[in-house]
Amino acid sequence: MASKETLECMAELYQGEILGEMFFEALLGVEDNPLARRVLLALIQAEAETKVRLRPAMERLGVPIATAPGTRASVEAALARYKGAAWSEIAAGSLAAVRDHYGPRYKEIARIAQADGDPVAIEAANHMLAHEMSLEEMLGLHIAGDPDPTRPVDALLRYPMPTLMPVAAT
Ligand SMILES: [Fe+2]
Repeated sequence: MASKETLECMAELYQGEILGEMFFEALLGVEDNPLARRVLLALIQAEAETKVRLRPAMERLGVPIATAPGTRASVEAALARYKGAAWSEIAAGSLAAVRDHYGPRYKEIARIAQADGDPVAIEAANHMLAHEMSLEEMLGLHIAGDPDPTRPVDALLRYPMPTLMPVAAT
């Protein structure tokens, strides 16, 4: 059986996906640039699919799948921080958040789950790590100017968004 610490880590992973989906969904509503929108769609789809993928594991572990009140508050705080910001600033901030916070934290959670030994938690944590690394790779490619940066994220999805249509020459 998973320890209390592992269960708290699982709840953190799960709520993080809810937060990400709501955050990027709100940004999609105010972003016009086609490539930025395609990156946001990949982010939304990745967070949504990962959330759904985690649900059976949460149920097996006894972790609630409802959105926690604190998650909604965190989304509002994150959106307030980026209010009026240019997409380039949001993309850079998102990459920094993944690289400096979520990535290292999820590595730590994978280590905690592994040491604890519950196979359901280990599988969930390892998948989350792969998911997070794909986000880091996509955002890095996007910021470096890659015209098709969503490949690493799309590759992990069961239902990837349509490929960006080439802009017609004028
Ligand atoms: Fe995520």
